[in-house]
Amino acid sequence: MKWTLFCILFTTTVANAQLLKQAQGNLKPILADLNDLRALRIPVSAENEYVEVGFAKVDPFQLSLIHERAHKVGKCGGFEDLEAGMEFFGEDFESLLSSLEKIKRKNELYHLAPFKAPTVLKDESLLQVIEEVSESNLRAYVQWLSSFPNRDNKSSNPNRHVTEMITRLEAMLSSASIPFEVSEIAHSSTAQKSIRVRLIGRERPNEIIVLGGHLDSINQSWGGGGDQAPGADDNASGSANLIEALRILMTKEQPKRTIEFFWYAGEESGLLGSAEIAKQYKNQNKDVIAVLQLDMTLFPGSGEGVIGSMTDFTSAWLRDYLKALNATYLKATIIDDKCGYGCSDHASWNRQGYPAIMPFESSFKGSNKNIHTAKDVISPALNFKHSALYSKIAILLAMDLGNSSERQPY
Ligand code: BES
Ligand code: ZN
Repeated sequence: MKWTLFCILFTTTVANAQLLKQAQGNLKPILADLNDLRALRIPVSAENEYVEVGFAKVDPFQLSLIHERAHKVGKCGGFEDLEAGMEFFGEDFESLLSSLEKIKRKNELYHLAPFKAPTVLKDESLLQVIEEVSESNLRAYVQWLSSFPNRDNKSSNPNRHVTEMITRLEAMLSSASIPFEVSEIAHSSTAQKSIRVRLIGRERPNEIIVLGGHLDSINQSWGGGGDQAPGADDNASGSANLIEALRILMTKEQPKRTIEFFWYAGEESGLLGSAEIAKQYKNQNKDVIAVLQLDMTLFPGSGEGVIGSMTDFTSAWLRDYLKALNATYLKATIIDDKCGYGCSDHASWNRQGYPAIMPFESSFKGSNKNIHTAKDVISPALNFKHSALYSKIAILLAMDLGNSSERQPY
């Protein structure tokens, strides 16, 4: 009897020790909302009160706690996985956090300093151009992209849709009237490739407006779900918005500044493609005037015509610019909200000090709950008229900011 008890105790202790060891070997470096980390009593090894972000190495159990808490407050993942991007940041998270703080402080200065708010002069012809955005084109692009089993950067065939997309873009661009370049961008952190299309500027080609979104998808459902990740809303929608904007812009007058379209790789595995690209642009001293991130635009969770503008990891000046464009041309409703963590590729550009915005389908809470599952497909709950607004934003940025000499005044 005693012996049996000992055996049970012994085996469970060994099993626990093994679990612990496994867990320790499985520590994931993450950036998360400092308040979430504190509430869950997860030790942080670097933190910044001002940006409300903490750096921690967590085991799978702690990760599931963060997930659970994030879900409760309506967030999706609730953290930024830094694992795959480690080689870029090294272990120096203190300086990563302090650079995030510097960027945020500069942004806050904007509200205090007597900078003039961005003004947009109405150009009647732009009203006509944005009317060219076609809901049925958007539907067809989303239908096509969501028909791949998945667009996961970790799948055995991570570039199938990338290759097909390039073929389609090249066919479309054969009727372009603006000089352009198409490139497939290889990465060191993932086998998946990003795509870039440049419409080259006629007056100041070195000044760049970036219009981007992630092309990859993921299935993160618990216990099964397999590898089906149609990702219609997340993010065939934003990807489609960009194709449609390009289709319209490529036949218009050549803008003064260069317009660069990006379809990023591996966003769902930790902003992989955009992190490399933004870092490289910074190293090459590229003059990026503005970055638009389109990620999820099809589910009108706060009402048709209500756009959520994410205020964290974005530029106060560019958010005001978006509001000025909206007041002049779109007359949609823009509500400010936060992700609470670097939830998409705009965070990669923001981290390098470039001005970014992320107009989103709804408030954070109101967003599509089917993402990252096999259920993220076209359905009556998705609204292409609502989504068309985001192609219009891309077109307006290209044709207004792309033809001006305005830039972030700080
Ligand atoms: N589109 C989502 C981000 C999102 C989800 C924003 C819900 C707002 C509401 C994006 O593709 C994504 O899933 N991001 C990850 C984080 C990233 C760093 C891996 C997430 O939110 O878990
Ligand atoms: Zn996602």
